[in-house]
Amino acid sequence: MEDRKSDGKNPPEWKPELKYDFDPITSDDDIVTVDLGGTPIQCLKIGDALQNLRTARMLPDYRKHIPSIRNMEMDHDDVIICAFTKSGTHWLWEITSMLRNEKADYHGKEKTSAMLEFIPAEVLRSLPKPRIYNTHFTPQCLPKQVFDKRCKILFLQRNPKDVLVSLLSFLKGHTFIDSTIQWEEFISKYMELEVESSLLNWFYYTRQWFEFLKEGHDNIYCLSYEDMKEDSVGEITKLAKFLEVEANNDLVKDIAVKCSFQNMKKAAGSKQETFAINNKEVAQKITNFTYRKGEVGDWKNYFTVAVNEQFNALYDKKMKGIDFKYRYSL
Ligand code: A3P
Repeated sequence: MEDRKSDGKNPPEWKPELKYDFDPITSDDDIVTVDLGGTPIQCLKIGDALQNLRTARMLPDYRKHIPSIRNMEMDHDDVIICAFTKSGTHWLWEITSMLRNEKADYHGKEKTSAMLEFIPAEVLRSLPKPRIYNTHFTPQCLPKQVFDKRCKILFLQRNPKDVLVSLLSFLKGHTFIDSTIQWEEFISKYMELEVESSLLNWFYYTRQWFEFLKEGHDNIYCLSYEDMKEDSVGEITKLAKFLEVEANNDLVKDIAVKCSFQNMKKAAGSKQETFAINNKEVAQKITNFTYRKGEVGDWKNYFTVAVNEQFNALYDKKMKGIDFKYRYSL
């Protein structure tokens, strides 16, 4: 790890390691422009998965990667966590890992080491058991065998207002959008977002999943960030039952404590990195936006009354027919 100190005035930017090959763009490719304020983002679109062209080589080329993920072999005991980004995926992944290992010990690696978006299928397939994959993909990009082999899916929900507050700091932190974008500009652009994207468009992602659930899939277990926050022990106990894991009360309580927001934030620095990071200050910055606040209701510090009304109206329009009731405070 290169460890240049910043001068304090200009904290160093994250420079992702661009390690994969990426074939030239051709006229057959679908390129979309996403405008969330500031410099528009150019992305390659495969189905509803987006690959940012500026940092494309950070990930396997989606033109080959998505088909290889679709055709990836799964074992019936592989578990997959599906959530829109910023819904608490790190939290649930760590809890699930502890439950399936029947030990309240942190996983040695970052969650991204088992993420369908980032890791080649052959590497995912070679991970040791118990395998707990995670993804922000919609059902159309999941390995087909997930359904044939009835692998257990954990579908995690979080109220969209807190998700969007969290998303802005994530997108800035990962240099997906300009660091100067302010909340007001972001939310107004976000409410106009039409691109069908599993990564960026909460309304699109969530509708895709709930329409899919209407078909009836008893291998899918739905949890919510807010319920986990309110009663971690109760939610972990129910999850253990779905996972068919023996977990006594002591283990469940230990997991709840080890996976508290503060404890996970502290533990983050000792995990093996998936992406090499250029220095310690940047690593800390990433930890700080990955584990930003961990609260329910922080949106109230951002949404004005007018924006809240606009957002509620948009929600009613976009989510018509979806019955899930989100909790916006505890
Ligand atoms: P905030 O930005 O609102 O703090 P994801 O893991 O899907 O990227 O979600 C990140 C969000 O989950 C962040 O929300 C982060 O702080 C929160 N989070 C991470 N670990 C948590 C934990 N142990 N308890 C509660 N929230 C947690």
